[in-house]
Amino acid sequence: MGDVASETEVLQAARAAVENAERVVIVTGAGVSAESGIPTFRDPEDGLWARFKPEELATPQAFSRDPCRVWEWYDLRRRAVLACQPNPGHLAIARFLLEKPSAILVTQNVDGLHDLAVEIQADAMGMRPDEAFDRVLALHGSLLHVRCSECTYDRPDRSPVDAGASETLPSCPDCGALLRPAVVWFGEMLDWETLERAFEAARASPVCVVAGTSALVHPAASLPAATLAAGGDLVEINPRNTPLSGRARWRLAGSAGQLLPKLLV
Ligand code: OAD
Repeated sequence: MGDVASETEVLQAARAAVENAERVVIVTGAGVSAESGIPTFRDPEDGLWARFKPEELATPQAFSRDPCRVWEWYDLRRRAVLACQPNPGHLAIARFLLEKPSAILVTQNVDGLHDLAVEIQADAMGMRPDEAFDRVLALHGSLLHVRCSECTYDRPDRSPVDAGASETLPSCPDCGALLRPAVVWFGEMLDWETLERAFEAARASPVCVVAGTSALVHPAASLPAATLAAGGDLVEINPRNTPLSGRARWRLAGSAGQLLPKLLV
């Protein structure tokens, strides 16, 4: 009984802080999409990196070595993601972004569900989504985009990829090289401008809400620390402890789909 009361108090205090903050930065990871049916990376049983080797699938070297195998895996993931819908956590964040023009979302997710949620919520609220889309920073790229492995060409793309042979893989209309999924692979740089905007938001926001991430992958995992270093506070939503948990002023142990709608009202 005592625990239940204190959990409610923590939620109330965190909600008040979010509501009163002039700016809020939200940092999300794979846990936010778990309730939409998309596997996380590091959960011990069904996490992607528990079942697949990242060095065989998510590095530029793997793509050079065996582009068909890499495309086959990303095409499967892309199709799985396209069959999923945003959950109440995505929708709560989307509504918050539409209602609070100073809020910024930084996501490590590549599934496009935050954008889709903004589209759905904007439609329901009779608003245009464009301005809120601009405040969704996808640090690790998107499964729903392709880019050239050689030149700067890139485009949105949801079409199935025939990975049966290298001749059937998509190629660049500008230079003819292979197109690749527009996601950031291990060992690659993040987009500098996006990263700058993310850190500026983290430093300038008195509250950082961090949800559904193991907080093990940098630089994304350093964003909450930037808020703390600038004197701000952290709200963490995660059923498990992470390296950030001890530094969170408000730690909400539970699922993003249940807690985000209660936090971001
Ligand atoms: P992880 O798989 O490392 O962590 C997922 C986190 O979500 C864990 O801390 C879980 O406890 C938590 N979680 C699980 N279900 C949840 C739920 N319903 N609600 C809230 N939290 C839940 O995923 P990320 O931290 O996103 O990078 O991983 C970061 C990066 O590592 C990914 O973007 C990816 C990967 O390698 C690239 O692909 C570049």
